[in-house]
Amino acid sequence: MPTWQDLGPVERFSRPLTPVTVGKTRYAVTRQGDRLSVLSGVCNHAGGPLGEGRCDGEYVVCPWHGWKYHGVTGLGEPGFEADAVPSLQVRVESGRLLVDLDSATPRTKGHHDPHPLARKPERAPGPVRVVGISTTNMDRKNPRTSTSDALLEVATSHAQTALGAETRTIRLAELTFRHCEGYYSKSARACTWPCSITQMDPDDQLDRVYEALVHWADVYLVATPIRWGAASSLYFKMVERMNCIQNQVTIANRVLLRNKVTAFIITGGQDNVQAVAGSMMAFFGEIGCQFPPFPFVAHSRGWSAEDMERNVESVMKSAELREGAQMLAARAVDTARALLAKAAAPGELARGGRKAHALPIDDGAPGLPPRE
Ligand code: FES
Repeated sequence: MPTWQDLGPVERFSRPLTPVTVGKTRYAVTRQGDRLSVLSGVCNHAGGPLGEGRCDGEYVVCPWHGWKYHGVTGLGEPGFEADAVPSLQVRVESGRLLVDLDSATPRTKGHHDPHPLARKPERAPGPVRVVGISTTNMDRKNPRTSTSDALLEVATSHAQTALGAETRTIRLAELTFRHCEGYYSKSARACTWPCSITQMDPDDQLDRVYEALVHWADVYLVATPIRWGAASSLYFKMVERMNCIQNQVTIANRVLLRNKVTAFIITGGQDNVQAVAGSMMAFFGEIGCQFPPFPFVAHSRGWSAEDMERNVESVMKSAELREGAQMLAARAVDTARALLAKAAAPGELARGGRKAHALPIDDGAPGLPPRE
């Protein structure tokens, strides 16, 4: 027997797409001309609210990442018909829209190969692995010497030749990648791992950074210039995209970065080294990284001596800065070896005091004074 549910007067559904909730179940009501239809309001991909999306011709577009479903049949867009959301029978009676809640067609999901980054992070045997991340930007046709890059090169070379580490360097300026598009701001669950942009855009090259950080490296040496008292804009472009790594801790209690060590090389034309380092340490600490003792080296010029044309020379000729960069690499590699020997990092976290965790009230909690 049909279970007809009154959704209200048809005038309520004058727009191409209207979200409706019956009990706890979400639906999307579509209008194409005079035709009203009802689909499930839950997207097949990551549960996005279809009723809050938009229409593109005959198709409903999910507001989270753009998957499309036919507004009448619920079938996926051409080529993806196997990804179908339920559609339901409707009728209009006395100016009201009724839907048969028992008539839903099956939800079907097409086969999607998991993204390569989605595999479980497992450290393969081998020596300590160091990735150098250069965040400075420059005109590639007219390259200049970067002091942060130069010290990064000193540090990674030392890690390879003197410390026995495997090394690779990623220069953000050589990658093409999109800015974070704020999926988290739509819903925490719209910010997916792997990153939604990485899954949608095969031309986006930040997958190389994710691969190195999550699956390959034990040590990250991050080098940045100071730009107006902060790390470089490319650094921030990268870390905004790394929200998906942190968000897995928040929404799934899943720590992707375990036994990872981060150290920093910061050079600039004015001071503010400690604030730049503090901001970088807060971010990398919050995504699960550890730090060696004395986790950054820095150099700054330009506040009282605006002779930046001599800055490169002074850095390149400084044996002390070179030695400092080498010892930074050594401290980071030593810390990584100690962590790997203990395999100490947690895969999950105690949730109390963590972001987005609702605290239950428990009068009997051991170790706490009784509530007044
Ligand atoms: S496209 Fe709908 S949840 Fe991702």
